[in-house]
Amino acid sequence: MRVSLICSATLFPLACFAFPAIKREISEDTLAQYAALAAKISREVEVKRGPTRRAFDADAQRISTTGEHAYVSPGPDDIRGPCPGLNTLANHGYISRTGVDSILAVTTAANEVFGMSLGLATFLSVYSGVMTGDITSFSIGGKPKSSLLGGLTSSLGLLGEGQGLSASHNRFECDASPTRADYNTGDPVSLNLAQFEQLVAMPKGPNGYDLTVMNQFRGAGFNRSIATNGHFFAGPFTHLAVNAAAYSFTYRFFGNWSAERPGEGYLDLETLKSFEGVIGEPGNFQWKQGRERFPENWHRRPIGDEYSLFSLMLDAVDAITTVPYVIAIGGNTGKPNTFTGVNVGDLTGGVFNAQTLLQGNNLACFAFQAVNLASPDILRGGLLGDLAQTAVQKLTEALGSIFATLNCPQLVKYDTSLFNAFPGAGSGL
Ligand code: HEM
Ligand SMILES: *[C@@H]1O[C@H](CO)[C@@H](O)[C@H](O)[C@H]1NC(C)=O
Ligand SMILES: *[C@@H]1O[C@H](CO)[C@@H](O)[C@H](O)[C@H]1NC(C)=O
Repeated sequence: MRVSLICSATLFPLACFAFPAIKREISEDTLAQYAALAAKISREVEVKRGPTRRAFDADAQRISTTGEHAYVSPGPDDIRGPCPGLNTLANHGYISRTGVDSILAVTTAANEVFGMSLGLATFLSVYSGVMTGDITSFSIGGKPKSSLLGGLTSSLGLLGEGQGLSASHNRFECDASPTRADYNTGDPVSLNLAQFEQLVAMPKGPNGYDLTVMNQFRGAGFNRSIATNGHFFAGPFTHLAVNAAAYSFTYRFFGNWSAERPGEGYLDLETLKSFEGVIGEPGNFQWKQGRERFPENWHRRPIGDEYSLFSLMLDAVDAITTVPYVIAIGGNTGKPNTFTGVNVGDLTGGVFNAQTLLQGNNLACFAFQAVNLASPDILRGGLLGDLAQTAVQKLTEALGSIFATLNCPQLVKYDTSLFNAFPGAGSGL
């Protein structure tokens, strides 16, 4: 049976019309790897029911920075982008040093090296492949030069349409980020030194730059965008999921784990600087593209205590509980300090509202259904062969089984015309 890869799956259902023909193909071997990943994701859902706290295991958690994983600064044709995690993986060869790789490779590296759950890593990767790449691979920064295409390890090359993560404004790259400026007021890809100084100057929490710090910093970042960016837009997916993730990931993934603190990581300034590619001292920091690196003797989260979509949802709810004003969906109407919230009840036909958004799984349901119901124009089209199609379909089905456990209320209405009031919204999610 020929099923269009995405239209039959739970995620991205409107994509189906965009993939009518056969073009990009993968090998049987690659398909087998994708099938194995999909099976592993399904097993991980099972495992989630068991206890997740694991003892510290220094050898298993220490991340190699030598040999094939030595730090090498990127060459002139290598691409880096807005995500310090992916930039670090590329600078150490955990994903292709070119900055262009398959969703399989990115998922595997995020899972094994940073302890991101397979479900969360697959979601982020597939989403990037669909939105910014050729579905099965994508660039972690800008559009790849044609000379890079031949270097891909899979038989896939990026389609001309794949613009990369750097050009994903309001689909993935979004406003009010921790260390990146807003699209409309600065460079959303490079680290912004003023924002970094501000983060570093925050009073530290019990675990260094932990969530107590990141939540307050998120409040400050939200206010900064309102006060400075007339085109600030906070969409259901980009603001409630991606923006929340940008702040929680900083601590959850960059923190160093140790025997002394088996249940949580500690993020100190040196480690933060290393992952963000910053050198120098407060008041005198410097940043240059391509310096993101693993600190020596750094330990990831415990094996078996991976940070999942559910972890992200809990952290997002926790952030909103701490700084309640960041829950607003909406934007500035053209000038700074004109932030106008959208009524979530109007947007969703009453399925969600401001009072119920923090209950149960509603926050995640709302954010992810916005992706699900998004307008078809988000897909500029890619053409896949049967095997590639089957591969991605297996992944989206496995992800579907995770989303099914959220038991989301059915969202039938999603009135994005309410976003027309915001000049910065575009076709944002
Ligand atoms: C698995 C695939 C991943 C994809 C596709 C991805 C993509 C992105 C993108 C597009 C952004 C920009 C969002 C914004 O505008 O705020 C971002 C931000 C960020 N990502 Fe990732 N990411 C991935 C995995 C990771 C991992 C494994 C880590 C941690 C090790 C990480 C850490 C971060 C952090 C800390 C930020 C916020 C940067 C800032 O300070 O503004 N990401 N990511
Ligand atoms: C951000 O703005 C809100 C609402 O105006 C205010 O209550 C809050 O204190 C501000 N937060 C920061 C960190 O400035
Ligand atoms: C992480 O913690 C361990 C144990 O305290 C320590 O030996 C190691 O140097 C730390 N690594 C970093 C990068 O801070």
